[in-house]
Amino acid sequence: MTAASDSSSPQPRVGAVAILAAGQGTRMRSPLPKVLHPICGRSMLGWVLAAAHEVDPRRVIVVVGDHNREALENEARAEWPGDPAALEFAVQSPQLGTGHALQVCAGSLGDLGRDEAVLVLYGDMPALTPNSLRELVRTRPEGGAALLTAVLEDPTGYGRILRDDRGGVTGIVEQKDATPEQRAITETNVGVYALPGGDLPERLGRLSNDNAQGEYYLTDLVADYVGDGVPVAPMELEDVREAGGVNTLAQLSAARATCQERLLLEHLAGGVFIEDPETTYIDVGVEIGAGSRILPCTVIRRGVTVGEQCEVGPFTHLRVGTVLDDRAEVGNFTETKKARLGSGTKAKHLAYLGDVTIGARANIGAGTIVANYDGVNKHPTQIGDRAFIGSGSVLIAPTDIGAGALTGGGAVLTPRTKVPAGTVWVGVPARELPGKESGRG
Ligand code: UD1
Ligand code: CA
Repeated sequence: MTAASDSSSPQPRVGAVAILAAGQGTRMRSPLPKVLHPICGRSMLGWVLAAAHEVDPRRVIVVVGDHNREALENEARAEWPGDPAALEFAVQSPQLGTGHALQVCAGSLGDLGRDEAVLVLYGDMPALTPNSLRELVRTRPEGGAALLTAVLEDPTGYGRILRDDRGGVTGIVEQKDATPEQRAITETNVGVYALPGGDLPERLGRLSNDNAQGEYYLTDLVADYVGDGVPVAPMELEDVREAGGVNTLAQLSAARATCQERLLLEHLAGGVFIEDPETTYIDVGVEIGAGSRILPCTVIRRGVTVGEQCEVGPFTHLRVGTVLDDRAEVGNFTETKKARLGSGTKAKHLAYLGDVTIGARANIGAGTIVANYDGVNKHPTQIGDRAFIGSGSVLIAPTDIGAGALTGGGAVLTPRTKVPAGTVWVGVPARELPGKESGRG
C-alpha cells in the first residue's frame, strides 16, 4: 500500500471504483470517442484505469453509453492493469446525468459495506494522480464521504462548493442553478468523490431531476449526507491541473503537457539526461537506463526500451518495439520500429530501421533504409555484429547481413540476399566483391 499508511491506520478498503464515461464528448469535434483520445501513448481512459488500480479496488465499473460501448469496453480490457475479473461495465442509455450514471452501477454496489469506499472518477480526467486518489480515500471520515475541490481563478461552468459559517461543506450547486452570489464562489467541485458503500444505492434512488438541467445530479448526494448528519470532508487539490477535465482538443493538449512533464521528471530523477524537456516527447511505458542522453526534438513512443548510456537524438523517432542495448546511439533524423540495436551500435544520421535485429558495435551509415515492407507484407532483416552498412544502402527485406560484413555506399541488397560474414558487397543490385574482406572480423 502507500508509504504514508502505517499498521495502526491501514489504508481503508476501496470497494469499487466507478468511472463515468458515458458522455458523448461532442465538443471534441472528433470521430474518436472522447476518452479514447491518447495522451502520451495511453488513452485518457487508460490513464484513469491505471490511477484507479493504484488504490487497489475490489472492482472497477466503467459506465459506457450505447454509442461508445464496444470501443470503450475493448480499450478498458486492454488497459486495465489488474485482475480482468475485477473489471465490469454498466451501460447508461440515455445519459440522464452523473447521478443517473452511478445509479446504473447500483447492481455492483449492493454488497459493499459502509466502511468500504466507492470512488467516483471521470473517464475524461487523465491528469489526476494516484497520490491524490489515495489521499482522498484516507481523507474520508469513518462512514462518511470525501470530495475533491479545486479553487479556480475562473470557476465558470463548474459546480460550486457551499460551506457554512464554520467552513463545513453543506452542498454543491451547479453553475446553471446557482444564484449570482453562489457563482462568485471560486471553490469548485472536481467531480471526484469517495462515498460510503452501504446505503449508496438507496441514496442514489432518491435523487431527483428537479433542477435547471433536468438531470440526476450526483452532487445532490452531498446535501443529502449533510442533512442526515453523515460527515463530508473536502480535500482541496494543490495542483489544480490535476482536475483538468478534457472536453475539447485544446484541453486535451493541456492535459498531455501535464502528463508529459511528469513522465519526463520521472526519467530525470532516474538519471536520464534530457537536454530539453520542452521538445522531448516520451510516452508512458518507456524504459530508459541511467546515464542515457536524450537530445532535443526526440519522440519516443510507448513500448520502447533504451538501455544505459545510450544517446538518442537530436531529431530521432523511436517507435514501438524498439530496443536499444547499452551504449547504442541513434541520431539525427533516424526512425526505428521493431528494431533491436545491439550494444554500442550506431545509427547516427538519416536512417529508417524497421523490423530489424542488429548485433553489437555495428555501424549503420547515413541514409540507410531497411525496406521492410513490400506493399503487402513486412519482412525481417538481420544485421550481424560489427557490420558496416555504407551510406545510402537499401536493404530490401528479408535480408541477412553476416557479422563484420560491409556494404558499399549506395548498395541495394535485393530480397533474400544472404551476405556472408566478413564479405564486401557493392552496387545495384549488390554483388560480392570477390576476394575482398571487410577487415571487420
Ligand atoms: C459535473 C458536476 C460539477 C463538476 C463537474 C466537474 C454534476 C451534476 N456536476 O459537471 O459539479 O464541477 O462535473 O467537471 O455532477 N457522464 C456520464 N453520464 C451522464 C453524464 C455525465 O457518464 O449522464 C460522465 C461524462 O462522460 C463525464 C463526467 O460524467 O466523464 C462528467 O460529466 P459532465 O457533463 O462533463 O459534468 P457536468 O455535469 O457538467
Ligand atoms: Ca464537464
